[in-house]
Amino acid sequence: MHERFRYRNADEIIGKAKELGFDLPFSNDLSPLLGPLTIDGFSIRNRFVVQPMEGYDSEPDGSPSPLTKRRYLRYAEGGSGIIWFEATAVSADGRSNPGQPMITSGNLEFYRSLVYETRMAASKKGFNPILVIQLTHSGRYSKPGGKSTPKVAALNPVLDITEPYILTDSDLRQIRDQYISSAKLASEAGFDAIDIKACHGYLMIESLSAKGRINSIYGGADPITRFRFMLETIDLMREESAGIMITTRLNISDCYKGGFGVDKNDHPDFSEPLLLVEELLKRDVRLINISMGNPYFNPHVTRPFDTPVPGRPVPDEHPLEGVMRMITGTSIFQKRFPEISFVGSAYSYLRHFAPNVGAAVIKNSGSSFIGFGRNSFAYPSMPADIMKYGKADPAKFCITCSGCTRLISNLKHGGCVIRDREIYGAELKKLIADGK
Ligand SMILES: Cc1cc2nc3c(=O)[nH]c(=O)nc-3n(C[C@H](O)[C@H](O)[C@H](O)COP(=O)(O)O)c2cc1C
Ligand code: SF4
Repeated sequence: MHERFRYRNADEIIGKAKELGFDLPFSNDLSPLLGPLTIDGFSIRNRFVVQPMEGYDSEPDGSPSPLTKRRYLRYAEGGSGIIWFEATAVSADGRSNPGQPMITSGNLEFYRSLVYETRMAASKKGFNPILVIQLTHSGRYSKPGGKSTPKVAALNPVLDITEPYILTDSDLRQIRDQYISSAKLASEAGFDAIDIKACHGYLMIESLSAKGRINSIYGGADPITRFRFMLETIDLMREESAGIMITTRLNISDCYKGGFGVDKNDHPDFSEPLLLVEELLKRDVRLINISMGNPYFNPHVTRPFDTPVPGRPVPDEHPLEGVMRMITGTSIFQKRFPEISFVGSAYSYLRHFAPNVGAAVIKNSGSSFIGFGRNSFAYPSMPADIMKYGKADPAKFCITCSGCTRLISNLKHGGCVIRDREIYGAELKKLIADGK
């Protein structure tokens, strides 16, 4: 049963988890978060990751706006070892909203300067984060120009309300090539790594579960055939953008019927995701950012929250259950593949206890990095505070109120309505005035 966050101390939150049947990892020693790690020749200063967070605020041509740039400069000054840039479309038809970033030969210069300025802002504070860009095609959730235009690898029994366009093999090859072109541009812009986004219901993760796709080289019963679209994309990217690190944000379970990584009862079943990670390791993928669920269908799985977006249902599970699902799932992958560094997700619900939980997870080898999504909107300088003062300020954390999700669901600019009130509180006021 869902409950509001009301834990005043460590004993109360650990006790609640126990009551629910979970052993919540917790460490008063935050030093595991501060140790460096080297991946693919990149020396990463600490274990904090700014998760990709869409701000719906790019210019119509996909280039970063002043608001986009502001977000990355705040992250840069915040001291995280990795800054994972938000979902960036590989083609105009695959944008999830009119403000989604998109890198093209026409706007490359703007991305070059975004990367440069992000590095400069970090360097002025003594930081040197690695910069990952997340490439995506929104598939079922494509909304170029604000109009829903779903394109899928296969139909899904619970997600499809209207009849979407089913992409042909030739369409998929064209999209694969768009990933390759976008990766080349991103490499020219100066990013250190390319994330082939395979999570949250968008095209790449959807192709991994396309069992109902028949007479195709990209779908059907055999998992290796379903993995082909992603693996071909990686192989070609390696050939065309030699030297750049390749990573993926991967759903290890969609947690719904017909999704990736689910059993007959629609519960998590990691056998296919583990098989996929074996294939990724063969291709020398050494960094994987784990997620689960689909923000349009089961948002509490992707991001456990205190309060849902107004008008959306209150989930029938305790948010700590969602937090533990992600911690336990990530730990299975990290322990099975110690040669890969995994990033754990969904820590923001834990508020000021999140660093303690993250430190314990790293100490227990349950993941190599701890990602912060909503909390990076709310409190981007949390890592710098922990490095400088040995602790964070409890009054600055995200309270998982879903205000930022409410903004982007209404195609407004996304940010923290509570802790970055001047800009995003004002956006929310406008939304409320419009009766939404
Ligand atoms: C407003 C908003 C935008 C998001 N944008 C992205 C995105 O671009 N790419 C992505 O992989 N996940 C995205 N996510 C999911 C987050 O990266 C993260 O997985 C989720 O919020 C759970 O982590 P948290 O508890 O630290 O917030 C977004 C989430 C929110 C709330
Ligand atoms: S609006 Fe701010 S406090 Fe609310 S969920 Fe988003 S980041 Fe957290």
